[in-house]
Amino acid sequence: MRLLTISGSLRAHSSSGELLRALARLGMPEIDAEIYDGLASLPHFNPDLDREGMALPAPVQALRQSIAEADGLLISSPEYAHGVPGSLKNALDWLVSGPEMVYKPIGLLNPSPRSVHAQASLAETLRTMSTTLVDGACIALPISGRGLDADGILANEELRARLEQVLDAMRAAASLRSPLVKHE
Ligand SMILES: Cc1cc2nc3c(=O)[nH]c(=O)nc-3n(C[C@H](O)[C@H](O)[C@H](O)COP(=O)(O)O)c2cc1C
Repeated sequence: MRLLTISGSLRAHSSSGELLRALARLGMPEIDAEIYDGLASLPHFNPDLDREGMALPAPVQALRQSIAEADGLLISSPEYAHGVPGSLKNALDWLVSGPEMVYKPIGLLNPSPRSVHAQASLAETLRTMSTTLVDGACIALPISGRGLDADGILANEELRARLEQVLDAMRAAASLRSPLVKHE
């Protein structure tokens, strides 16, 4: 199973990113988790640049291709001012008009359980985009503010077990996915 993971934080050592690095290092069999690092290079979304028959900006094409090739997506994000970080929402806006997100299994990781607004808003946006939110892979974990890096997260048995459960849920959801929407 190929998973694309996206951090909603551009900070080099953000808790959102460390969570995704921990997931990628879990080493579960048959799971390949790629970390997307192009969020900051996406242009601002402009519907004038997203028209039928028009070449999309290269970073947008690359993101859409990576999503098309993935069996599922995991998004880990902070909350800014009770909302979704602008750079992450910008990426999602670029994906609205394409087919890549439709029925795509998505997990949402929230590294700060007190941040409820961004998570709810992300879920609403992703439902509107016809993605498939995976129940067992949408969780909040107490990471922020503890100074934990990926190794620290993996060293914590409870956190490690929760991340394994997330990957199990994603695996189950990806295996149920209709071949009609599978992008080769
Ligand atoms: C500009 C800004 C606004 C924030 N607004 C909120 C907020 O509304 N609610 C909240 O729970 N945390 C808020 N935070 C705290 C971050 O969500 C928190 O520090 C998060 O763990 C940082 O994520 P990161 O480590 O992945 O970068 C804000 C942080 C910043 C920098």
